Amino acid sequence: MRNVYLVTAFLVVLTLSVLGFRGTKFTHPPMDVFPEWAFPSMRHQPKYKPQSESQFFADGRTDRPLPAGVVSRDPLRNDDALYLGKAADGTWLRGFPAAVTVDGKLIARGRERFTIYCSPCHGALGDGNGITKQYGMGATPTYHDDRLRQMAEGEIFNTITRGKNNMLSYADKLKPEDRWAVILYVRALQRAQTGAVSDVPAAHQPELGLK
Ligand code: HEC
Repeated sequence: MRNVYLVTAFLVVLTLSVLGFRGTKFTHPPMDVFPEWAFPSMRHQPKYKPQSESQFFADGRTDRPLPAGVVSRDPLRNDDALYLGKAADGTWLRGFPAAVTVDGKLIARGRERFTIYCSPCHGALGDGNGITKQYGMGATPTYHDDRLRQMAEGEIFNTITRGKNNMLSYADKLKPEDRWAVILYVRALQRAQTGAVSDVPAAHQPELGLK
């Protein structure tokens, strides 16, 4: 009788240890129960690691030079205005690169991306009162001061691309076109704070309930 308990306990442990870890991610390759030479699983194959030495190639490098005539599949990033926010003379671009079309569609896109990526810190109005402030993250600047109103669009582009102190880079989340869209929306937010009733087209002024 005692053996029945022992065998049952053993089977439970065995089943759990085999099935229980299915789907778990390991940082090391799994243990090989069956030796590779007897049951090849193709898990272990001879290979070169990047930037390592090679006895095989005459130049001693495992990294091979590109064959002549190779063409990049990515677009060439040779538009400094679009990709770096730089004007032709190397200063920060003022205004928007020729490659982006500044229209209502771009503003709408910018508003959407801004709400997702920037408003948690900078606030929906760009006044620095985002939700993160309630959790103790201070020092997020408002966009509504003269320094940032006068800052070249290209410099803002650079901040989004590279980040600044506590603000991380958004280059991996916003492609260049989206960064410009966000900048356009930042400009709209700034403009909204300094607007006057006379900026609203006459036909729409009554909707404001001011007249
Ligand atoms: C995690 C919070 C956080 C998020 C999210 C965030 N920022 Fe910032 N941002 C900051 C902080 C903090 C600073 C102040 C950096 C400094 O000058 O030390 C800053 C500064 C700035 C500045 C001023 C830079 C300067 O040169 O003074 C701009 C413009 C800006 N952010 C735009 C954006 C835009 C656009 C986004 C969205 C793509 C964004 N930020 C997302 C926290 C954030």
